Amino acid sequence: MKFFIDTANLNEIKEANAMGILDGVTTNPSLMAKEGITGPSNILQHYRDICSIVDGPVSAEVIATEYEGMIREGEELAALHKNIVVKIPMIIEGIKALRYFSNKGIKTNCTLIFSAGQALLAAKAGATFISPFVGRLDDISTDGLALIEQIRTIYDNYAFETEILAASVRHPMHIVHCAEIGADVMTGPLNAIKALAKHPLTDIGLQQFLADFDKGNK
Ligand code: E4P
Repeated sequence: MKFFIDTANLNEIKEANAMGILDGVTTNPSLMAKEGITGPSNILQHYRDICSIVDGPVSAEVIATEYEGMIREGEELAALHKNIVVKIPMIIEGIKALRYFSNKGIKTNCTLIFSAGQALLAAKAGATFISPFVGRLDDISTDGLALIEQIRTIYDNYAFETEILAASVRHPMHIVHCAEIGADVMTGPLNAIKALAKHPLTDIGLQQFLADFDKGNK
């Protein structure tokens, strides 16, 4: 399973990349705003900065919600760097844009996926990735992981090449369950990724090993 980090924070991206486990980055307009990145030129420069840190897909989201605008913005984003993936919302205009970019060989990530039907449409339109939001479904008492499972079955039934990018991942068990189900990619915050490394028995065991070493080497 590929690991993407879901942030526009350059320090967090650098930290995850330095761990040697990072395969890519996802951003969205809220994450960019959280970092205080505003205005077209700053936003485009920020994507270039992210691409200079990580050698893997970097999702950059369009703001337009009508076809022509999405195409214009998406082409500008794709021209920034070979690793840019144009992130398109799951709306009818977005489906048309997915088909356009797919025909042109430009990679896409269809975002805001909350149902299997949406995932099916995006795959039919040639999306490279789809982003089902696990955490946001859990937030409304709906099983987000069950959706990942359902989409996995559908994509396998028809050998769709679209990759399932489990998004809105909130904690380490989301990541583990996504791996069990067979999501192709997960995107989550740095703290959820780092939490995978934590186990109290690891900490206690290490402390004991170091204490025993000290005793024997005094
Ligand atoms: C997807 O690419 C989104 O950026 C993201 O995963 C949303 O996560 P959230 O629900 O924690 O905001």
